[in-house]
Amino acid sequence: MNLKDWYNNTKDIFLPRDMNFLIKETFGEVINICDSDINIPAEKLNFLDKAKHEYLSGKPLAYSLGKEEFYGHTFNVNQDVLIPRVETEIITEKTLEYIKKYKIINVLDLCCGSGVIGLTLKRLVPGLNIVCSDISEEALDVAKKNALKDNLKIRFYQSDIFAGLNDNEYQLIVTNPPYVESSQIEGSLTHEPFLALDGGITGFDLLDKIFSEAGKYLTDKGFLIFEMGYNQKDVAKEKIEKYGYKVVEWIKDYSDNWRGGVLLKSK
Ligand SMILES: C[S@@+](CC[C@H](N)C(=O)[O-])C[C@H]1O[C@@H](n2cnc3c(N)ncnc32)[C@H](O)[C@@H]1O
Repeated sequence: MNLKDWYNNTKDIFLPRDMNFLIKETFGEVINICDSDINIPAEKLNFLDKAKHEYLSGKPLAYSLGKEEFYGHTFNVNQDVLIPRVETEIITEKTLEYIKKYKIINVLDLCCGSGVIGLTLKRLVPGLNIVCSDISEEALDVAKKNALKDNLKIRFYQSDIFAGLNDNEYQLIVTNPPYVESSQIEGSLTHEPFLALDGGITGFDLLDKIFSEAGKYLTDKGFLIFEMGYNQKDVAKEKIEKYGYKVVEWIKDYSDNWRGGVLLKSK
């Protein structure tokens, strides 16, 4: 079968971004499908059709491909890790801004999952001293393989939030913790690890612990940069005030929702 025909029969099934990623990953290059009379070899056709069937069953394309793009780079993923999201690219971009502005060296990526935040920071600022931590051994395996693939020297640590990490070590902690209300984990989210999403009844189980404990692990005037849900700013603000940080700024996503914050340790 010719690629243009396969595309025309399938294009309504995939989101345009997913279709482009699938074709790029299948052929190893970006192809202009409209101009393309490529005949699809049998092995690639099987691969495309399998991805299509899995997609129709609700399985996210990233898990079928074992890969996802993040900040212009391809990361390995599997069903032990969250599929990295575009909001997290914004949090990563903001973190990069603070690292450069304040000449930060020691950084913790807490709840690192596949490692997308910490590894992106290390790739772009090679002099950083980064620790990536997560409670899940399986997620850490994925992050370690991603670091190995890109030859990045990162320290990994299996930890329940901050347990076992050194006090007063980090000039900046960045985190995208699980923050979804348990009752909202449904539909396509059920394909991703519950552990990576579940923030308990209110969504704040982990964020609350992180706000309350991060100060101990930050250096004086250290920063905590965190991601949260689109409707969590008001509650986050109340909790933050209680723990004595200064809010440096709130972070919006591309849909104009508040999705994170930058806090300064002030006590
Ligand atoms: C929302 S995912 C974020 C993954 C990655 N940072 C990203 O942005 O794609 C949250 C991660 O937190 C981890 N996690 C859940 N509970 C944890 C805990 N108590 N301590 C440390 N990590 C935890 C999960 O295993 C998961 O990898």
